[in-house]
Amino acid sequence: MSRREVTVASLAELHERGRIVVSIDGTELGLYSHAGEIRAWRNLCPHQGGPACQGKFLPRTIEVVDDAKRAAPGISSEHKSIVCPWHGFEFDVLTGRHVVDERVHLIAVPIRSQGDEVIVSI
Ligand code: FES
Repeated sequence: MSRREVTVASLAELHERGRIVVSIDGTELGLYSHAGEIRAWRNLCPHQGGPACQGKFLPRTIEVVDDAKRAAPGISSEHKSIVCPWHGFEFDVLTGRHVVDERVHLIAVPIRSQGDEVIVSI
C-alpha cells in the first residue's frame, strides 16, 4: 500500500497550541510541537489501544537531588510527555518512547513542514 501526503494543519497554529489531534480517513493522529520540533503519532496507545494523544500533554515530572542529597519532585524544563488518559502510560513527545520502558512506544507517522503547512504521510 502506497503512502500519500496530506496537509493537516498550519505550522503556526501547531506551534501555538502544542498539540492538535486530527482524523484522516478514520486514522487519528496527534500532531505535536515541542522545542522547535514537530512530531506525529498514531492516536493509539500500545498498552490497550487507548487514545494516547487525547490525554494530558505536560512537562515530565523528575526527581531533583540537592547538594545535601535530598530528593524532591521537580518539573523538567526540556522534556514533555504525552500521558494516555486510560491508565497513565507516559511517552516522551519527541521519541514516542515510554519514559520507563523504552521497548514500549507510540507509532510514528512521517511529518514535515513546508512554509506554514504541516504535512503528514499516511
Ligand atoms: S491504554 Fe493507554 S495506558 Fe492503558
